[in-house]
Amino acid sequence: MAATVFAPVPTGVQAKPVVGERGLPVLGVTAQLLRDPLPMMRARHERFGPVTWYRAYGQRQVTLFGPAATEVVLTNRDKAFGHGWEPILGAFFRRGLLLMDFEEHLGHRRVMQQAFTADRMRGYLEKMQPGIARHVDRWAAGTELAAKPALKRLLLDSAAETFMDIRLGPEADRVNAAFLDTTRAPFAFLRFGFPGGRWARGLRSRELLRGFFQELLPGKRSRPGTDLFSVLCHAETDDGERFGDDDVVNHMIFLLMAAHETTTSTLTSMVYHLAAHPRWQERLRAESLELGDTLAMEDLARLPSAELVMKESTRLIPPIIELVRRTVRDTEVLGHFIPAGTQTSVPLLFNHHMDQYWPDPARFDPERFSPDRREDKGHRYAWAPFGGGVHKCIGLHFASYQVKAVLHAMVRRFRWSVAPDYRFAPDWSGLPVPKGGLPLIVRPLG
Ligand code: HEM
Repeated sequence: MAATVFAPVPTGVQAKPVVGERGLPVLGVTAQLLRDPLPMMRARHERFGPVTWYRAYGQRQVTLFGPAATEVVLTNRDKAFGHGWEPILGAFFRRGLLLMDFEEHLGHRRVMQQAFTADRMRGYLEKMQPGIARHVDRWAAGTELAAKPALKRLLLDSAAETFMDIRLGPEADRVNAAFLDTTRAPFAFLRFGFPGGRWARGLRSRELLRGFFQELLPGKRSRPGTDLFSVLCHAETDDGERFGDDDVVNHMIFLLMAAHETTTSTLTSMVYHLAAHPRWQERLRAESLELGDTLAMEDLARLPSAELVMKESTRLIPPIIELVRRTVRDTEVLGHFIPAGTQTSVPLLFNHHMDQYWPDPARFDPERFSPDRREDKGHRYAWAPFGGGVHKCIGLHFASYQVKAVLHAMVRRFRWSVAPDYRFAPDWSGLPVPKGGLPLIVRPLG
């Protein structure tokens, strides 16, 4: 199909237009993004260069390939980029931190930061481990494990304990289903609320979650606690800024989604890679067996292999494959004119597979991140699974602690592998997770 200009360059502006091509009528490239995004991204980059446009998820978007363009967007020096998540997440996660911009975002982030101090993190690490051990003990007793649902369930229970200080009782399935519906809804192909559809289920589930948090709120407000929900209820900046009730509930709904889906994606791909690369699994095991069953904060630095595997897994499959922004004023990226009101995308997945930065990019090779290679140093934004700039993931340390605590418990209890004919393929229709349940063969140590 013929290439066209995204928007004419106004007279007097010394910049090139963005050239691209829509893709299929109506759908654009949405089906390709859902099926296998990397080949499509590569083909577009090859044909049009680092700044191009196509149609995806019902709108035209400018895509900015490569870490140099990523840096322009995330550092946002001329304040031209607001968040662009409204069309995707807005209906379900309104007033979440990522859906705020500029001054307002800064104010809320300052309050939320109180929940992520080193002392708080120490408390969360302590709080999450007994629950993790309960799940992993059960897995160790079997010979097979459907890892994806098992990890999802562990992470949901762990979030309930760490974020809310509750053990999910009989309502767990209802809450679990509400989470899944809310988090999957933004990726609905048909983006309106016809009865029974993904979108409508998502809206209903958000209401259920809101009710669930609102019921717990008075109890959390009434006394201080060490779980994230309590901390948000009582967090106060030096200037006396605090969250109102609606803020706390909206932030909790967003935080649970932000934490749960991303960590599930990361852990499932790490668990798969460790099954496919037993040498790495043994490295993690050797390091974990040097430590006690329960990790203290100070122990985390003694798990360097888990760190390398986490970095490499999130390089190969970043849980958020692209970051989206919307221009709030006319701007330029790498000499291309982008008008105000443009939906833009920063495709981390593409950046993480550029052979200019990552030799043999498809290969699982955690040593790329080792001190003597540091391939990620090729560009500050060559590897950015947690984003960058003012919206950089606030939970990145939390995620790393949780992932390490789960793997620590697993490697100390059993070995795992996949069947020789198992073929790993990510499902891209939400945050990437392996298709199927990720069936593992479990063997006791010894
Ligand atoms: C491996 C797991 C995780 C990954 C890969 C990840 C990735 C990201 C990314 C890429 C962003 C920036 C999005 C953007 O700029 O458009 C982000 C933001 C965010 N993440 Fe995470 N995340 C993870 C875990 C978590 C956890 C565990 C929490 C909470 C405990 C969390 C809470 C948040 C919040 C609140 C934001 C919005 C920050 C802001 O707008 O200032 N994330 N995350």
